[in-house]
Amino acid sequence: MSVACKSIIKDPSLWPSGERKILWARRFMKVLESISRNARVEKKFKGLRVGVVLHLEAKTAVLAWIIQEAGAEVYVACCNPETTQDDVAAALARKVTAVYAWRGETIEEYYENIKRVLKAKPDFIIDDGADCIVLAHELNVTSVKGGTEETTTGVIRLKAMERDGVLRFPVIGVNEGRIKYLFDNRYGTGQSTIDGILRATNIMIAGKRVVIAGYGWVGRGLAMRFRGMGAKVIVTEVDPIKALEAHMEGFEVMPMIEAVKIADIIITATGVNKVVREEHFKVMRDGVFLANAGHFDVEIDVRWLEEHAKAKREVRPHVTEYTLPNGKRVYLLAKGRLVNLVAADGHPIEVMDLSFAGQFAALEYLVDNYDKLEPKVYTLPRELDEKIAWEKLKVEGIRIDKLTPEQIEYLKSWRR
Ligand code: NAD
Ligand code: ADE
Repeated sequence: MSVACKSIIKDPSLWPSGERKILWARRFMKVLESISRNARVEKKFKGLRVGVVLHLEAKTAVLAWIIQEAGAEVYVACCNPETTQDDVAAALARKVTAVYAWRGETIEEYYENIKRVLKAKPDFIIDDGADCIVLAHELNVTSVKGGTEETTTGVIRLKAMERDGVLRFPVIGVNEGRIKYLFDNRYGTGQSTIDGILRATNIMIAGKRVVIAGYGWVGRGLAMRFRGMGAKVIVTEVDPIKALEAHMEGFEVMPMIEAVKIADIIITATGVNKVVREEHFKVMRDGVFLANAGHFDVEIDVRWLEEHAKAKREVRPHVTEYTLPNGKRVYLLAKGRLVNLVAADGHPIEVMDLSFAGQFAALEYLVDNYDKLEPKVYTLPRELDEKIAWEKLKVEGIRIDKLTPEQIEYLKSWRR
């Protein structure tokens, strides 16, 4: 690894292509640009240190750069050992205080890089998956006044910390904002997971039986978009309401043990471990593709494959072929990590524009209010959620109606 300024990155000379990616992304991140304008002009975050621990690709770099432009010192690490884009990291190291990240970190290096962010004594942390916030608690980093969390799995972990009485500062669960999960989790993952699978495999989607585990926000987006590409979509669920919803949306619903017998592609999106495991591997067809869109690499039991496969080889970038004890082969994409961020660029720019506008708004809200908040997980205030939606409508040139005073009165009254 080379050291550029205080950064620790793969290769600083990679910066030109990273710079092009960042400038391209920034061109389309008009909502973030607009909602951060005042803070950037006023240098509102001057004197603050912000730790950013997100998937380090171009849109993340735009967010980190913009926070630095608003006056903060920004320290960046990646929230996954396999999702840093090294050219983007090199370009970002020229824009923010420090970057500690490279593609293919070992687990030890991954945590070491997050610790480097914490050693800078950040006032605020922007996290994805909660590894940084959890580590800040374990290492008793007392500088932190508040945090924000990007994804469903991170929010679930942080709520568990709140429940156990161990959370020590307020966190805004950006994921809980409608501006986040309705767009990012659903349409963002719907498109970018297909992007990752196609880039990794170059296979045809139309006519394939695609099994989607989990019909939450991510699963809905996946099911919708795979159907749009001509796949025969099957949903597996554990929640009876979500299962019914998938059924009424016209998808086949069945237990995983039945679905795997007919699947061509299986994608997990549950946030839960071992959704695809030994009993399922044993009855899969030869040549099935396995991919994960959930936050952690626990949904497909990769350890079982590692321990029991007769043979293993890399057949293309991001495609590992395992030969099972019964002689059948399965193709695991992106080592069971987030396929959309390992094999592709993550969500489309316009979607991350909304999510990161949410992150910026949450950070600004924390800077203004952290001392009035309790150590709890908060939802992004509704007015900020809606401010971002209004800004996006403006960017898109879309106008909508307003309730008339008479309609407002009508809604308030029970008399008809
Ligand atoms: P969600 O809570 O809305 O949905 C999860 C669904 O999975 C629920 O309906 C739940 O009932 C179902 N489920 C749980 N266990 C199951 C099992 N064993 N089998 C079948 N279904 C099961 O969550 P979400 O917002 O859809 O997020 C899902 C995961 O994706 C999380 O880990 C989240 O952090 C991650 N995520 C990834 C991306 C990405 O870019 N790839 C984007 C957003 C969220
Ligand atoms: N790009 C940066 N962060 C991302 C995320 N959490 N999901 C998808 N794309 C991303």
